[in-house]
Amino acid sequence: MRQPSPPSPGSAPSIWSRLSTLTDYFAWPLRTSHYLELVNPLWTTHKLQARVVKVWDETRDARTLTLRPGLNWRGHRAGQHVRIGIPANGKHYTRTYTISSPPERDDDCFTITVKAIDKGTISHHIVRNIKVGDYLPIGLPQGDFYLPDAQPVQPLFITAGSGITPAFSMLNSLIAQGRLPDTCHLHYAPHEFDVVLGKELKALAQKHDRYHLHLLYTRDGEDKRHARFSTAQLDALCPDWKERDVYACGPPALLEAVEHCFEQAGRSRHLHIERFRAPFTEIPADAVGGRVRFAQSNVDTEGDSETPLLKVAEAAGMNPPHGCRMGICHTCNTTLKSGCVRDLRTGEILNEAGSIVQTCICAAAGDCELDL
Ligand code: FES
Repeated sequence: MRQPSPPSPGSAPSIWSRLSTLTDYFAWPLRTSHYLELVNPLWTTHKLQARVVKVWDETRDARTLTLRPGLNWRGHRAGQHVRIGIPANGKHYTRTYTISSPPERDDDCFTITVKAIDKGTISHHIVRNIKVGDYLPIGLPQGDFYLPDAQPVQPLFITAGSGITPAFSMLNSLIAQGRLPDTCHLHYAPHEFDVVLGKELKALAQKHDRYHLHLLYTRDGEDKRHARFSTAQLDALCPDWKERDVYACGPPALLEAVEHCFEQAGRSRHLHIERFRAPFTEIPADAVGGRVRFAQSNVDTEGDSETPLLKVAEAAGMNPPHGCRMGICHTCNTTLKSGCVRDLRTGEILNEAGSIVQTCICAAAGDCELDL
């Protein structure tokens, strides 16, 4: 049942927020929104939150959360991601997850599907501990990995693991709009029981003959190598792949192989890729780290040449601002006071005091001091 809410999300600027601006005069030094938060955290306008309304275990280590966003939410495009704040172990963390539901849902909710990854403390926390009724801070939908408004040229999805989520949202969006074209989908998972959203994918394939699903298990069967992505495999499963627009999402090894295949075929322009993390360049063998000083926090520690400074700060007990952790959102920006750091994506060295440093994709390249 829908809970009572003053305006519907995305109606901007709503009568509600105008009224709230007016009543702010009487709420000073706080804002009306702060008092509304006590009644219903989804009514706030000074920050955006979502209530967990359902949790659903997809596999033994993947969980779907259904979230009802607050007033300032605006609809997403299928394939976009959202930042979610996660309180865990007395700290506040931020992670970015692709929205797995289509924008056409009619209950004003959206879903994220999270797979617990190795050493991923926060993903494990979400899969094990988040429960119905929790409120989580969220950002607005972001990202340019989405289908064009015009009818997409016969899509080919190549996904693995939790890289299924944007493709799942896009597929369901096309179906909801009644414009699903002939679509081929190669999805990789270690085992059959590991396929995130597997049941739903199979149900879609059964229901829609234009949707051709190939589930490939990389650790099941006799010769596992044959299950891995290759041009020969693509030729066999999707012979007309050179005539399709391709959307790929998954771990770095898969995306590298896909990129190589499309480069060789001169089809890079038709390949759209969504990554879980920034692609880092190879660091010179003789690269060194150094002493890292976080000036505002008065923290001194060591950083090697490969570990992003964000992780160095967290390992030193700090909780610096961050969002995507992959160089997109710039929430982690800080200023270099002295010394030098390396951009791990390009290998470029920054050594001018006053340079902006993205701590999630920069590592120490000698001693350095940051305004953090
Ligand atoms: S956390 Fe998003 S750019 Fe660094």
